[in-house]
Amino acid sequence: MTPKALAVRCPAKINWMLRVLARRADGYHELDTVFQAVDLWDTVEIRPAQALTLGCDDPALPTDARNLVLRAAERLRQRGRTASGAALYLRKAIPVGAGLGGGSSDAAGALLLCNRFWKLGLRPAELQPLAAELGADVPFFLSGGTARGTGRGDLIEPLEACESPPILLGCPPFGISTKEVFERLPPRLTPVENGVSLSAFSPHKWPEEKDFGSLVNDLEPLVYEGWPELKNFRDALLEAGASGALLSGSGSTVYGVFPDERRLDEARRRLRGEFVGWRLVATRAVRHGVTWAARQGESD
Ligand code: C5P
Repeated sequence: MTPKALAVRCPAKINWMLRVLARRADGYHELDTVFQAVDLWDTVEIRPAQALTLGCDDPALPTDARNLVLRAAERLRQRGRTASGAALYLRKAIPVGAGLGGGSSDAAGALLLCNRFWKLGLRPAELQPLAAELGADVPFFLSGGTARGTGRGDLIEPLEACESPPILLGCPPFGISTKEVFERLPPRLTPVENGVSLSAFSPHKWPEEKDFGSLVNDLEPLVYEGWPELKNFRDALLEAGASGALLSGSGSTVYGVFPDERRLDEARRRLRGEFVGWRLVATRAVRHGVTWAARQGESD
């Protein structure tokens, strides 16, 4: 009998808002952000094997310890005190270096997948610190939906699900290094300098009082200065009828929220002609994070 391959689907995210509050002694930055999982998914599959290995359908991605999926599995093996093997396979749909959290989501997926596959029985509260060690965005994807992230972005507080309008993701044909963007921030931060107070974006009021016309991301000025075509795309989204448009995370994706599907489709047609080489993805908010997708194994 063909063994069953277990699989998880790992969503992308955008940030409805991202405030950078301070530089920390550990080199990270103190954030206040609202994450939103969206309907765009990578998949991670697992099959029995002697050794622990990773394959990937994107030849541009490393499949050694530089890949967070393998790091997550190795970390879980340590934590679970097991030497079990597994053949992991990553199918990418989320663009890389795009501010959509793809690598972090895949890592969260690998933690959940290996925990079940190796029957380690670690509870969500036990997986959370492992996720935070792997990357600041990783804990969010264990629960997903709409959530506030504080600390490095790794302290997660679920928020009421967001009934969001249609979202158009604009992914340019290049990625941006998060590390590089944070390193470019001035040493002295003045987080409310653009006049938008934190209280106006209090995540506790989210989503009832959300205002898609005043989305905020403190990394925008710096990223738009370095990559002006992203600002051009943001402006083009607004001109094409978006109610709001924002850089996601540290970029490179810029998204727009639209009043309805028709206006999103019109904008997409228009922008496709203007922004050659960009990937334009229509999506929606989703109410969960990594989800199970058990599938029958095709081959062994
Ligand atoms: O945690 P992760 O490896 O995803 O973060 C990538 C880089 O982004 C970090 O090395 C750090 O330079 C920067 N970063 C930061 N403050 C955060 C999150 C990330 O400075 N809260």
